[in-house]
Amino acid sequence: MNSVAPLTAEGYRQELQQLLAGALQAFAAAESADQLEAARVHYLGAKNGLFKNVQKQLGQVVVAEKPLAGKHLNEAKDQIQEAFEQARLRFTAELRRGSLDPQFDPSLPGTGQRLGKLHPITQTIEELIDIMGRLGFTPAQGPEIEDEWHNFVALNIPASHPARDPLDNFYLAVAGRQTAEPLLLRSQTSTVQIRVMEQTRPPVRIISLGRVYRPDTADPTHYPMFHQIEGLMVDRKVTLADLKTVLKLFATNYLGSKVPIRIRPSFFPFTEPSVEADYFWNGRWVEFGGAGMVDPNVFAAVGYDPEEYSGFAFGLGIERLCMIRHQITDIRHLFTNDVRFLRQF
Ligand code: FA5
Repeated sequence: MNSVAPLTAEGYRQELQQLLAGALQAFAAAESADQLEAARVHYLGAKNGLFKNVQKQLGQVVVAEKPLAGKHLNEAKDQIQEAFEQARLRFTAELRRGSLDPQFDPSLPGTGQRLGKLHPITQTIEELIDIMGRLGFTPAQGPEIEDEWHNFVALNIPASHPARDPLDNFYLAVAGRQTAEPLLLRSQTSTVQIRVMEQTRPPVRIISLGRVYRPDTADPTHYPMFHQIEGLMVDRKVTLADLKTVLKLFATNYLGSKVPIRIRPSFFPFTEPSVEADYFWNGRWVEFGGAGMVDPNVFAAVGYDPEEYSGFAFGLGIERLCMIRHQITDIRHLFTNDVRFLRQF
């Protein structure tokens, strides 16, 4: 029968010293980070490292001397670890230079990280909110899926009006929803005028920015989904002169210089009188959007007294504003998500 001779603490210390000497020598002899790593695995490797083996022998030390032997073990471990850390310093620069990779040339310029950017439409939206905020207009929101009341009826657009033609709108068939009230993707942000006035008493001074949908064929200036900014101001004695002042201040702030603006007669069912606003930019008059004084029928629909209050509203295309500012010639570039294009802004 084989019996293993019991180890004394002193015998165990000598084994540890031998191991330590071997490890120190191997670490000192290493000539590269690779060789040092190999020596580390040989001595300190978690699976079959020599230190692990000696650690197992602690079980053979006579019981009374185990605490002392354990102390020797911990000291030896600290010393080996320390020797390894010291040796590693010799190769830190080598590791940093990546000399293990012969392709690496530390004299080459680094590869810069490209920072992401906000989409030009988002940038425009943020700027518009900022400009209109300075004029006292607060952002308001409404849903993109609307009912006919908010998209048409309350805006004084009667059932017979061509704007309600199903072919000119995205009506929705909602699965499992049996309802007499059709739903559609909103075709204009004027819907938010109604939603705000239904909930608020005058004075009102809001803007609403968001997506609208029309089955327009995509061409350089049209897209079936685009963004509008709607403005609404209601109070006592609001006049067309206030509207013109706000549009002028807006254009001057957005385009960065004094921009002549003009208003021309137009027609929208929800404003009376209605106007089309243009600004003079790069030698020509550019259409800006629709506007006008809120029609008394709209006030009646939301329970405002048209004898007491008056107001103006306007609706501008955000893509067109973005395009004119950045000289973008085709609206479709804004939606193809080509980073070569988007990076320019
Ligand atoms: C309206 O949508 C009215 N709701 C604006 C309004 C609001 C008038 C408040 C009076 C009071 P219009 O359909 O003209 O108006 O659209 C406004 C702007 O949206 C246009 O001037 C144009 O800049 C932009 N626009 C219209 N259709 C498209 C499209 N398919 N693609 C991109 N922009 C468009």
